[in-house]
Amino acid sequence: MKIAMIGDLHGNYVATLALEKALQRVQPDEIWFLGDAVGKGPQSRETCDWVRSHCTRFVGGNWDYGVGGREFAEDGYFWDQLGDERLAWLNGLPREMDAHISGVHFRLFHGRPVTPLMSVQADKDVLAAAFRANGVQYSGIIFADSHRPFVRTLHEGYAVNTGSVGNSLGVNRAHALIVEGEMGSAPAPLTMSILCVPYDNEAMAEIARRDAALPHADAFINEVLTGVYSR
Ligand SMILES: [Fe+2]
Repeated sequence: MKIAMIGDLHGNYVATLALEKALQRVQPDEIWFLGDAVGKGPQSRETCDWVRSHCTRFVGGNWDYGVGGREFAEDGYFWDQLGDERLAWLNGLPREMDAHISGVHFRLFHGRPVTPLMSVQADKDVLAAAFRANGVQYSGIIFADSHRPFVRTLHEGYAVNTGSVGNSLGVNRAHALIVEGEMGSAPAPLTMSILCVPYDNEAMAEIARRDAALPHADAFINEVLTGVYSR
C-alpha cells in the first residue's frame, strides 16, 4: 500500500497541478488530506475541489474551519469564492483520524500543539499529549500545519510532517509525504519519504498579483517566491 499524504495547499493550484503530475509517476493507491486546502492563495476554489475529487481520507485544518465557519470578516474574499456548499464541507471536516500501518499506530491531524516539534528542545508535556489522545497511546503522529516536511524518530515514536503543497517555507517546492507499508497492526517494513516537486512559482505569484481583491496578497506572493514566512 502506497499513500501520498498532503496538506496546506492554500489556494495554490499551480503547485497542486505540478504535484498531481508528479504523483502520476509515484502512483499512490490513495491520497490522504491533512488540512488547509483553502486560504492565503487566490485559487482556493480549485484546490478545495481538487482535494475533494482526489483524496480518500480527510482531516480539516485551521484555515478550513476558519474560512468554512466564517470566523473572520477579512476572509470574505474566500467565502465569496467558495460558496455555501464548499464552506459547509470544509467546516464539517473531521479533526483527526488514525491508521495502523506496518504495525505503527499513527494519529493524523493538522495541529498547532506539536509546533514545538520544530525545535530540538520540544516541550515534553506537549509531545506526550500529541502521542497520547482519545485514550490511546500512539506510536506515530503525522501532521501538517508547519509547512515544512520532516521525518523524525523520537522517544515517543515517529513524528512526521507532510510539508505543504502550496505554501512551503524553507524550500519553496510543493511537498508531499509518501508512506509505503502494509495496512494493519502486524509489524512490517515501512518507508516514509518526502516528495519534493518544483513548480512555476512566478506563474503563481503573477496570478496573485493580478487579483486585486486577494487579502494579504503581498505576503502570499513573497512566501511563494522566497519560502520566507511573511505575515
Ligand atoms: Fe497551513
